[in-house]
Amino acid sequence: MKRMEIFGTLKKDMDAVERVLYQSIEVESEALGEAAMHLLKAGGKRLRPAFVLLGGKFGTYDLDRLQRIAVPLELIHMASLVHDDVIDNAQTRRGQLTVKAKWDNRIAMYTGDYIYAKALEIVAGLDDPRIHRILAKAMVEMSIGEMEQIRDFFNSGQSIRRYLLRIRRKTALLIAVSCQLGALAAGASIEIARELYNYGYNVGMAFQIRDDLLDLCGTEKQIGKPPGSDIRQGNITIPVLYALQQEELRSPLLGEIGRIHEANGRTDVTAAVNMIRNSSGIAQAEVLADRYTQKALDALDRLPDIRARRHLRDIAHFVSRRTY
Ligand code: IPE
Ligand code: IPE
Ligand code: MG
Ligand code: MG
Ligand code: MG
Repeated sequence: MKRMEIFGTLKKDMDAVERVLYQSIEVESEALGEAAMHLLKAGGKRLRPAFVLLGGKFGTYDLDRLQRIAVPLELIHMASLVHDDVIDNAQTRRGQLTVKAKWDNRIAMYTGDYIYAKALEIVAGLDDPRIHRILAKAMVEMSIGEMEQIRDFFNSGQSIRRYLLRIRRKTALLIAVSCQLGALAAGASIEIARELYNYGYNVGMAFQIRDDLLDLCGTEKQIGKPPGSDIRQGNITIPVLYALQQEELRSPLLGEIGRIHEANGRTDVTAAVNMIRNSSGIAQAEVLADRYTQKALDALDRLPDIRARRHLRDIAHFVSRRTY
């Protein structure tokens, strides 16, 4: 599924969202605007705004109003990526240099803050305090998730539960609220907004598990950065946790992770990546992602059968098998 196909009938409205996104980070201060624009131009799937618009289809669809949520959600996502690349010490994103690599960490901090502020400015045009509360809560959870990840860098003994809690915070909740807020802004019922939240939450979990699989199994061309970045940074993801449960792999893999840790990531990670790729951890993680996708589809079954529901089903299938 290409970006165009993800958008389907939303294409025209997503073009409008794209225009507002560009306007929103017009260059006010040279360095900040330039760095934010660099990330915007690098592309990205624009999944979160698409979820907002689709959520809006379950109520009274008003593009002008929905844009005030769709654009901030993409901006919040983008800001989190700029900061994430500082934490993860990442050199490339979306196939381009990261802000921290092209400029530096200080510029990246303020660029992230600048993009967050732009998001707030746009959403301020909406008078529903629920929307502001939900958005603020999601941002708090995201920050906690990223902090938890720092705490657990190179912690090979962490539980699967802990991993799931972390990805819920850092990724799934923002996708959940994208779907929910689209519905709320369009005046849909609380029940509908809740089911959309459930859908988004489960799609979000599958999305991050898939992201973690791609980091190990994808090619640089597919994922826009070198594979194995997570393990190099000490981010122990679910395929690794499953692989560590394999008796014969445990000790050699722990050895490799320890070696990467000692070298602060400045070493070859091929051996570790290959061990995990050849383990049953990959298939196990795929099964788990599929389970979340199924739950997302179940939530959809409880929603009215409108065209947007079929579109959301296609996106759930895309997410669970995505290669970029
Ligand atoms: C990347 O999100 C960060 C995660 C939550 C895994 P996306 O894969 O949606 O990033 P872009 O916007 O398409 O680049
Ligand atoms: C998601 O995690 C990042 C955020 C939710 C901010 P990753 O660190 O895996 O994202 P990528 O792989 O760098 O896009
Ligand atoms: Mg990262
Ligand atoms: Mg990260
Ligand atoms: Mg990742």
